[in-house]
Amino acid sequence: MHQQNEVGNKIEKSKFESSISELKKKTFVSAADIECYNVCGTTPEYEKAQQRSLNDPEGFWSEVGSELEWTKPWDRVLDDSNAPFTKWWVGGEMSVCYNAVDRHVVNGRGEQFALVHDSPLTDTARKISYNELKDQVSRLAGKLTTLGVSKGARVLIYMPLVPEAIIAMLATNRIGAIHSVVFGGFAARELRTRIEHAEPTVIIAASCGVEPNKIVRYKDILDEALCQSSHQPRSCIIYQRRRVLECPLEIGRDISWDEGLEADPVPCESVEANEPLYILYTSGTTDAPKGVQRPCGHAATLCWSMKKVYGLQRGVWWAASDLGWVVGHSYICYGPLLAGMTSVLYEGKPDRTPDPGQYFRIIEQHRVNALFTIPTAFRVLKRADPNAKYARRYCQKSLKTVFIAGEHCDQDTRQWAERVFGVPVLNHWWQTESGSPITAPCLGYGVKSVPPYSAGYPVAGYDIRTLREDGMECKPGEVGRLVAKLPLPPGFASTLWRSDERFKKIYFEAYPGYYDTQDAGWISLDGAVWVVARADDVINVAGHRLSTAALEDVVLRHTRVADAVVVGAPDPTKGDVPLCLYVMRPPQDDEEIVAESTVTQELIALVRHLIGPIAAFRKAVAVPALPRTRSGKALRGAIAKLARSQSVKIPSTIEDPSVFGDIKLALQKFGYATDAPDPEF
Ligand code: COA
Ligand code: AMP
Repeated sequence: MHQQNEVGNKIEKSKFESSISELKKKTFVSAADIECYNVCGTTPEYEKAQQRSLNDPEGFWSEVGSELEWTKPWDRVLDDSNAPFTKWWVGGEMSVCYNAVDRHVVNGRGEQFALVHDSPLTDTARKISYNELKDQVSRLAGKLTTLGVSKGARVLIYMPLVPEAIIAMLATNRIGAIHSVVFGGFAARELRTRIEHAEPTVIIAASCGVEPNKIVRYKDILDEALCQSSHQPRSCIIYQRRRVLECPLEIGRDISWDEGLEADPVPCESVEANEPLYILYTSGTTDAPKGVQRPCGHAATLCWSMKKVYGLQRGVWWAASDLGWVVGHSYICYGPLLAGMTSVLYEGKPDRTPDPGQYFRIIEQHRVNALFTIPTAFRVLKRADPNAKYARRYCQKSLKTVFIAGEHCDQDTRQWAERVFGVPVLNHWWQTESGSPITAPCLGYGVKSVPPYSAGYPVAGYDIRTLREDGMECKPGEVGRLVAKLPLPPGFASTLWRSDERFKKIYFEAYPGYYDTQDAGWISLDGAVWVVARADDVINVAGHRLSTAALEDVVLRHTRVADAVVVGAPDPTKGDVPLCLYVMRPPQDDEEIVAESTVTQELIALVRHLIGPIAAFRKAVAVPALPRTRSGKALRGAIAKLARSQSVKIPSTIEDPSVFGDIKLALQKFGYATDAPDPEF
């Protein structure tokens, strides 16, 4: 019988129902759209592969696994005896690093460029061949060994988007250790939480990162985090960005990157396919960190996906993301290197480092064949250079395809991007948990387009369904919870770091036999999937996944705040931005009266300090009271709808319906709820 768990209970059904009805109204509106829809559809080759992946998973994934070099063959392709902890290529041993680096050198391709680092922020461009990559990775791996890092130990990497971050990731798995990369936009407290949770033997960090308006002092943030941390690493290896900022090293604890590279090189250490490759923390709940654990066998799925999903065999690939996110792990680092391609790292912004021509310059200069980015980047470019004046300065004939993911893309932006880049802009859907696309066009099987607004068709191994709240299947076109029938394909998160029970509870309890994606959407008759909205407290800010509950926790720490909610409010560039409504606590006894503007500024500073600038938390306003049900549940969905000027139906369980008047006025201060009808019972 279907049961709702705590996450399932949080479904803000109205939130996604209204957006899907809007979306559906817009879908297929123009003749061009209808034409596009008609030419979409799958191919017999895709259907055959898809069916085989579901009906004969052992046969299908055995072929995929064979694309890598193994030092010990697997005993069994699939062991699903302890679902959802499915194991693939059981007993097989290999080294991800060997397959991503050494293999290409052995095959005579050592001179080819593995990485191109293009950094307008530091005015540098660097190219690193597979030979050079192997040399540096194997030396750093040697240093890690001398520092006591062994198989299964953790190495935490806190670096900006520089090749050294990839060298650190590969060096870690070269010796069978597990990396945990932390994104640079997080504050010291977030870094500390991850250090305490993963307990790294060594931390590898950079002196600084560079943003357009500031230098981010990574080493200072690391020192602050370590000062408060209950876990201390044995050593820290520090990469000095000499052209930008050098930092002092702590004697006895820190060693320099250069010293790290003086170590003797070590060979690759093979590990079993289900051993962890990395831990990557992601948002989704309020309490303990959610560390997605990825098995090493993931490498085979990634290598296969470059060919079959993205349709690429060789060439230059550019994923415009950061190594701190899953896109960076899978498609800046591992995917392109496993496939023997050249991966571009771009340390800059789409529009202002120094102008909106940079994406096009990079494509021309590095002869990029395929670009992967998020719709926010296109919205930024479209706003800065609507007539593509900058784009026209560059030749883009090397480019064949653009892939987008991470958030909903409006059709205007997609069509603008197709005109400007002159190639198909293809949407696909995935999550940190999946590590590679769940649905996509699958170019390698001849599926070269997707219906408008859709995220494509299920990728091999994914049996995607939509379920109603009672667990029954939806009809085609009906919005429901997007779920994937078990077993999940290889490369999917094997568990949450040290939290097997939590893994089961969060993802597999609400709909037994399925993985709950926590996304809402619908599926068409021919199997294309539309993703509409998250059904939990996660919002998507410029493609970054943020928990509104975590932001509320921080706001509620302020001594003058009695109550607060944070919702996602629409933003023309970033998709969503956090918007906070808070209730001030009246001053007590001889307490000073504090102005609302002061509290607002303090809240903004507090979130920056405790979560980090990446939360993009800038909108907070005081209200006299929040809409809550008699059982105390805040009506976040109603506030989010009101902000979008949608009609709101107030539940009969509300404590005080009159609060909505002030909420509407507060939202209007930010330009929201301008045409909102008054909420009704
Ligand atoms: N290290 C440290 N700080 C970082 C950072 C990093 N790697 N990345 C961002 N930040 C900081 C920014 O400097 C900014 O700080 P500020 O408030 O002091 O100015 C804050 O975090 C918010 O950053 P961001 O969301 O990038 O906002 P922005 O206004 O600087 O830029 C975009 C907006 C849309 C241009 C930018 O988000 C972007 O290029 N996005 C598209 C591609 C992408 O990287 N997607 C990642 C997900 S796959
Ligand atoms: P992350 O784990 O940070 O990669 O974020 C995953 C979430 O981003 C998903 O659960 C979706 O809510 C959203 N997402 C990813 N791809 C798409 C897409 N193509 N369309 C709409 N939302 C998407």
